[in-house]
Amino acid sequence: MVLKVAKRGDVAPFIVMDVLKAAHDLEVEGASIMHMEIGQPGTGAPQGVIEAAKKALDTKQLGYTESFGIPELRSAIRDHYVKAYGVYVPLERIAVTTGSSGAFILSFIAAFEAGDKVAMASPGYPAYRNILTALDIEVVEIPVGPDTNFQPSPELLAACGEQLDGLIVASPSNPAGTMIDPAGLEALYGYCAEQGIRLISDEIYHGITYVDPAETMLRFGDDAVIINSFSKYFSMTGWRLGWMVLPLDLVGACERLAPNLFISAPSVSQHAAVAVFDCEDELQENLRKYKENRELLLRELPKAGFDKLASVDGGFYIYADVSEITNDSAAFCEAMLKEAGVASTPGVDFDPKNGHRFVRFSFARDPADMAEAARRLIKWRTS
Ligand SMILES: Cc1ncc(COP(=O)(O)O)c(C=O)c1O
Repeated sequence: MVLKVAKRGDVAPFIVMDVLKAAHDLEVEGASIMHMEIGQPGTGAPQGVIEAAKKALDTKQLGYTESFGIPELRSAIRDHYVKAYGVYVPLERIAVTTGSSGAFILSFIAAFEAGDKVAMASPGYPAYRNILTALDIEVVEIPVGPDTNFQPSPELLAACGEQLDGLIVASPSNPAGTMIDPAGLEALYGYCAEQGIRLISDEIYHGITYVDPAETMLRFGDDAVIINSFSKYFSMTGWRLGWMVLPLDLVGACERLAPNLFISAPSVSQHAAVAVFDCEDELQENLRKYKENRELLLRELPKAGFDKLASVDGGFYIYADVSEITNDSAAFCEAMLKEAGVASTPGVDFDPKNGHRFVRFSFARDPADMAEAARRLIKWRTS
């Protein structure tokens, strides 16, 4: 008898993972590949975190923790908001999660009903779309592009013609790396408050900015769900740790849901992460490398014919419009991998409709690798 498989799992695959696998297969065969596909720092966790983890292994029992996280980490997150933004958040609103990915699942379940309509920018981070779809929540794609700095605005939301229940924004964004300025964030906050739209602000790329620092949505009021992570600026992807600052009306639901869904975030990671806020020197050195990579690629990529680029205000991505070269970015990225030895991600991962005209380059690796990648791309495209 054929058993039923729920339609819920029938979401788009994460294409970047397929690219990563293809790149690894080529490496196993002996090829040299420059990795510009995956969105993770080329660095490990800062030394202070490693030491704190070792100490925790030696001295702590490392069982389950309180499901919103150990008090020391929640306090450290509270202090981080005071230091980084001058904003005070009460501890009861801070929940430590298994990466920001865990925070999406928790907050989407707590905030939205099946059938609700939640908007996101397209291109945007694919997991928003796929988690919402798996939860039977309708995704309303807000088409954005160079003329809107790849970001949504109240005007675009009004123009979508839907009565929205939610909106997810990310500034800096993935894949475009563009940011919404404080006035734009405030306008979105105000529009959502006026229209009864639950606003979720993914602030995972805060700390990695090149022009202006990123402002938190908390600045404009207490009603947005703030999601952040130790994965990017703090360089702790595999430790699977993130956090939320919840509006008070969602605290109870998340307190009930979190232990059922995850029990708690990884214990050793939580103890180690307390130390990350004292590792500024190392984290700033990582940022310096991203800055160097950004400058190099903005200078070199146009020489390879990639000259229509989003503004790269923050994060570590360059989103290139390749429509003058190809109409099929997936095939183009495949050829780039095989012929130039450079792994990149086709835009279709982020934008099912127009992504075939875009490629995302991630520049989170070492500057020497990025320089080599640029050399290969120029050679590939000009010879
Ligand atoms: C915009 C955005 N949000 C969230 C995540 C998920 O990160 P994590 O679950 O490691 O916190 C990513 C990862 O690339 C991302 O780009």
